[in-house]
Amino acid sequence: MPCTVIVGAFWGDEGKGKIISYLALIDKLDFCVRTGSVNAAHTVWLDGNKYALHMVPAAFIQPKCRLLIAAGANVHVAQFLKEMGLTKVDVKRVGIDNMASIIEEKHSAQDKASAVNKGIGTTGWGVGPAIEERARRTAKLAKDLPELKPYIADTVTEINEAIDAGKQVLLEGTQGFMLSLYHGTYPYVTSRDTGAAAICSEAGVGPTRVDNVLIVYKTFITRVGAGPMPGEISMEEAKKRGWFETAAGTGRNRRSAPFDFDLARKNAKINGATQAAMTKLDCLFPDCRSARNFDDLPNEAKQFIKEVEEKTGVPVVLIGTGPDALDIIDRR
Ligand code: IMP
Ligand code: MG
Repeated sequence: MPCTVIVGAFWGDEGKGKIISYLALIDKLDFCVRTGSVNAAHTVWLDGNKYALHMVPAAFIQPKCRLLIAAGANVHVAQFLKEMGLTKVDVKRVGIDNMASIIEEKHSAQDKASAVNKGIGTTGWGVGPAIEERARRTAKLAKDLPELKPYIADTVTEINEAIDAGKQVLLEGTQGFMLSLYHGTYPYVTSRDTGAAAICSEAGVGPTRVDNVLIVYKTFITRVGAGPMPGEISMEEAKKRGWFETAAGTGRNRRSAPFDFDLARKNAKINGATQAAMTKLDCLFPDCRSARNFDDLPNEAKQFIKEVEEKTGVPVVLIGTGPDALDIIDRR
């Protein structure tokens, strides 16, 4: 902090929502800026309630945090308004950049009707077609819609003034780096760059204004949809190991593979990571469940974290040990 970019290391679903909710509460975030679009779900657990957020920034659980949607983001209006209801966030806390573009019903229909997209296994929300429309320069923008009027803001000025004032600003990346349109497993990727530099670009923050890039790893790798995944194990094996997951957004089964140190190192480098988080340590080492101190971890768990640090060259400062926002070992 003060300005941190959070980026997913693999194919998304690394647990960014959980890490963001922890930072929101403990670092008392002043601003959280959501990038990307409705295809990504960030899961936040609070007081036994689960929120799968596709539009509202994951830091909503910090009452003083201003919640912004970036200029480069794509807004699904119905989903956004639904989440405003579910989270009961005050309208005054939320700003959608006037230049954010809009996903319409027709985009979802186009996404679902496309044979190419079916082969890729897209989420079907219509993000690809919406971005195509933006590139054609025919997209609707947030400022054009009367129902978004109460939220419309110049978020780019707000964010940059907040950084000038030394406020705690988090740029909330979505999806994972291996889904990047430029750097991922093309064509089995999403329709935007998902890297740290692109997150800054969507938010309107220059690269020299960022203090930390926090890359989020999970103790095993998961992927939904088609495309290569080195080291993939079978669904049965994943269930045996306690790694089996279903997608927070679409409910699809996730594919899984063991942690990949080489990929972890490469992606830390390309994203300029200064810090790392590791989620789900308790899935690899059940004795770690809900631990809050590094010293309480079994030796093999400590060894795993040390190996990640040695091989990536990045300190693992936050370690997730359970689903609750506060199930974290904080080594900062
Ligand atoms: P699209 O982003 O809906 O076009 O889908 C393209 C690919 O990215 C598919 O393999 C999706 O499963 C994957 N994908 C998109 N968003 C997410 C996400 O938030 N988490 C994990 N995978 C995602
Ligand atoms: Mg997700």
